[in-house]
Formats: sequence, structure tokens, C-alpha cells
Amino acid sequence: MSKNDLRLGVNIDHVATVRNARGGTTPDPVRAALLAQKAGADGITAHLREDRRHIIDSDIDGLMAALDIPLNFEMAATEEMQAIALRHKPHAVCLVPEKREERTTEGGLDVAANDNALAAYIAPLAAAGSRVSMFIAADQAQLDASHRIGAPVVELHAGAYSDAWAEERWNDRDEELRKITEMAAYGHSIGLEVHVGHGLSYESVAPIAALPEVKELNIGHFLMGEALFRGMEGAIVEMRRLMDEARG
Ligand code: PXP
Repeated sequence: MSKNDLRLGVNIDHVATVRNARGGTTPDPVRAALLAQKAGADGITAHLREDRRHIIDSDIDGLMAALDIPLNFEMAATEEMQAIALRHKPHAVCLVPEKREERTTEGGLDVAANDNALAAYIAPLAAAGSRVSMFIAADQAQLDASHRIGAPVVELHAGAYSDAWAEERWNDRDEELRKITEMAAYGHSIGLEVHVGHGLSYESVAPIAALPEVKELNIGHFLMGEALFRGMEGAIVEMRRLMDEARG
């Protein structure tokens, strides 16, 4: 357990995106993860996609071997991924929806429509000791379904909130923040641990970090971009500072 009341999970997928643009071995996502750990990340998040467009299997091997902080292994609910997670037994497994044609994870998982299948799917992962989380929209039916199937954690999808910030659609931003605020409180009230992630930046992080029921933020793309300018350590230290300031 981290000393931080609000944990920062750093997603290093896009170090692998840059590596894969040329093939070869550099830049190395494991090296980035170790720098993130040194800079104060509470955990590392990596998404092994079915098409291996960024993180590849050997990255997961390397992360599991190298890290002292927990790995949050993001994956689609497929048999292949379940077998990989059961082999590695990461601290956390976050189930995300995956479509081949999407550029990033566009929506939340529909737990409410697949609750029986997902309950059976997560049981062995939980038995292996991984904390299973559902990446869902800030929607009560999805929180209820996640709770019903026995997932201890949910991650609320902040994509619409983050897009509204980036496009300066302030009414939409406020509406999305209202949904996340209400559903973070609701999730906490029914016993779920609430995380938030997707698209967060220095600009948009504070209102989310200020929500007392939110226990972890997972942030990747913005931080990896910022690392080009400030270095990995500088980028993460600044995010941590903004989170702590918002937390008060
Ligand atoms: N959380 C989840 C479940 C995700 O799928 C992603 C993107 O892979 C993130 C957090 C991080 O999003 P971003 O890279 O936009 O910060």
C-alpha cells in the first residue's frame, strides 16, 4: 500500500508505441517504468492489446521482473489474456473493452450486459491474487454490475471529460465532471475502490484529484508526451505536485 492517499499509476504504453514505430528495442518501456518508479509513481500500468500495437509480451515479462511497485495489467477479457495474467499474477488486472480499429480505448466495458460471463471470467484472476478492476463509464448500472460480479475496483473512464477540456467545451466538461463526482461517491458507498483514468493532463487533473473517494489515477499519454520536454522524472513530479495540491 502506498503512502499516498491518492495513488498515481503511470501508463508507459506509448514508450512502446515510439519503439514500435521503428521496430527494434529502443526506447525501452521497462527503463521508462523504472524511471517513473524513481520519480514517485505508485504503480505502473501497461495494456497488452490483442494486436500488440504497443506493449508486447516480453515487456510484461520485463516489467514483472524489474518493478518494485505494483503492475496494473490492462487487458481485454479474452482467453489468451486470462492465461497471460494467470501466468504473471500481477498486482492488478484492469479489464478494458478493445476494438481493433480504435486508436485508444474509446468506451467503458459493458459489465451490465455481460455480468454472468464476466463473473466467471474474473473468478480465477481473483483466486490467483490479482485485484480485478472494471474500466467503465461513470454510470450507475455499470457500477452496480461491477459490484454484483465481485470486482473490488472500478476505473471510471475520464475520456469524455478530458476531451471536453481539450476542446474547451466547458458545459460538457462540467457535466462529465458531475457524473464522475456522483459515481465516485456512489461507488465508494457500495464498497468499490474507485480509480479514474484516460486523457488526464496537468490542466484537467485537479478537479478529479480533489474527489476524496478517488484512490488512484492512471495517466499515460499526456505524461509520456510531457516527458519529451521535461524528462520522465520532471513530468511525473509535476503531476504528483498538482495531485497533492488538489487533494489539499
Ligand atoms: N486507464 C485505462 C483503463 C486506459 O485504458 C488508459 C489508456 O490506455 C489509461 C488509463 C491512460 O489513458 P491516457 O494514456 O490517455 O492517460
